Amino acid sequence: MLLMGKINKIGVLTSGGDAPGMNAAIRSVVRTCAYYNVECIGVMQGFQGLIEGQYETLNARSVSNIINRGGTILKSARSLEFKTKEGRKKAYDNFKEYGLDSLVVIGGDGSFTGAMLFQKEFGVPVIGIPGTIDNDIYGSDLTLGYDTAMNTVMEAIDKIRDTASSHNRLFFIEVMGRDAGFIALNTGIAGGAEEILIPEENLGLERLIESLKTSSRSGKSSSIVIVAEGEKSGKNVFELAEFVEDHFEEYEVKVSVLGHIQRGGSPTVVDRVLASRLGVAAVEGLLDGKSNVMVGVICGKVKMTPLQKAIKENNEINRELLRVADIMSV
Ligand code: F6P
Repeated sequence: MLLMGKINKIGVLTSGGDAPGMNAAIRSVVRTCAYYNVECIGVMQGFQGLIEGQYETLNARSVSNIINRGGTILKSARSLEFKTKEGRKKAYDNFKEYGLDSLVVIGGDGSFTGAMLFQKEFGVPVIGIPGTIDNDIYGSDLTLGYDTAMNTVMEAIDKIRDTASSHNRLFFIEVMGRDAGFIALNTGIAGGAEEILIPEENLGLERLIESLKTSSRSGKSSSIVIVAEGEKSGKNVFELAEFVEDHFEEYEVKVSVLGHIQRGGSPTVVDRVLASRLGVAAVEGLLDGKSNVMVGVICGKVKMTPLQKAIKENNEINRELLRVADIMSV
């Protein structure tokens, strides 16, 4: 049952790294507010906009034609000032002056930490929506932007493969994932990589050399190694490539760092539907008196997880995928 009446003006902001699907989530929050006759205010520039009072009234029509757009119309920032108590107090004063009574925060665990402090210090009801291409948020099988980023990476691997096989080259492709290997592991399988290096599992450089030697002996003339940026070999992707080149005369080794291309682009069906579902769940959650939780999808169902837990715990890598990757590279 929705407890209408207590919540009349919901703020929504995007914070941290942008991710495809954030616009679709903003649209969903705004339209769900319109559906329930609740006012919705867009806060620009993440928590910094909260401090500076950068607010914009949004209605159902203000979010037309954005479901297909990457990035975030509300813009995003990593606010240092919001990390201070004074900064948060300023934000709260503006928030109250504007008549806001609750907040939806779309972002990653840094953003949720800010949201949690805001809730704790001023009693403002907050709900989080997980938005990051890294998929490293506990409490949702998928985060906004992850599926789109993976498809972008897979297309890039397919293209690089054309050159790798035409020139007998060994390519090291670095993908995003500061602390998590979800993008690397899944796109590595989808793109037919020989080896996948992820932060969750450091098998060592010897094993990498051994595996590439086995591939070469089995008749492979080109190979692709996917490297998550946060992997733990102790070498960056260029050093890794140099190290491997010293062991292989037969291969020319090249490096391709995909970088921020992975964060942009039109969201996939999966991300648009996820964003739409989570936006509805966040607003309905606030209207239902919920706070300090993140909405996510677990085994196909919308679930709420305490923000504290979403921040503290980790999404586990599926070890079956490691085994599949291993078998596929035979
Ligand atoms: O957290 C998402 C992410 O894309 C990471 O994979 C990456 O390490 C980081 O953001 C890059 O952040 P920035 O855009 O600030 O350089």
